[in-house]
Amino acid sequence: MENINIRLALRDDLAAINVIYNHYVLNSTCTYQTEPTTDAERHAWFDAHDSKHPVAVAERSGEILGWSSLSKFHPRSAYSNTVENSVYVRQDVLGCGIGKALLADSIDRAKSIGHRTIIALISADQTASVKLHEKFGFVHAAHLREVGYKFDRWLDVVFMQLMLKDCR
Ligand SMILES: CC(C)(COP(=O)(O)OP(=O)(O)OC[C@H]1O[C@@H](n2cnc3c(N)ncnc32)[C@H](O)[C@@H]1OP(=O)(O)O)[C@@H](O)C(=O)NCCC(=O)NCCS
Repeated sequence: MENINIRLALRDDLAAINVIYNHYVLNSTCTYQTEPTTDAERHAWFDAHDSKHPVAVAERSGEILGWSSLSKFHPRSAYSNTVENSVYVRQDVLGCGIGKALLADSIDRAKSIGHRTIIALISADQTASVKLHEKFGFVHAAHLREVGYKFDRWLDVVFMQLMLKDCR
């Protein structure tokens, strides 16, 4: 898709971010959240994303078509150079390259911030997400069995990891 601009998210984008995300909350195993995020929760989430943990959006002609974030992987301070990424594309524009553009941008931002590694927690049944992350060099680091339960079934989670600085 042409004319997609990836930029840092603004507070004004949060309603669109929530619409995109809440569709998946209600219809997909790609998030293990089962109740929609409220506007107040989304604002609190945005406030918790500082300059080391950016939120970005994919915009075309003023419309938000997807978003990505780098969040703290764990609150303990020794994890501060590890981030968990998220990427969500609006359901009517899937398969147009927006996920790729957002993930490439997240990786660039993580590198320039100085993070060491990115972890993606992905429901094992989410082939599109697994393939997208593999395309960017994420490797399968762990497979946890039946840690999620949604839509009346048990779900496995895969942890996929991208090293940004690999000295080993
Ligand atoms: C995963 C997701 C972000 C991909 O976004 P997208 O814009 O549709 O993906 P793109 O068009 O950029 O495709 C990128 C790559 O993803 C993979 N992919 C995308 N859709 C796929 C599908 N339906 N089946 C298999 N692989 C798929 C392919 O490897 C593709 O590369 P290619 O086109 O060169 O083959 C999107 O499906 C989505 O928002 N899903 C719901 C949320 C989610 O699962 N997020 C990830 C968890 S954090």
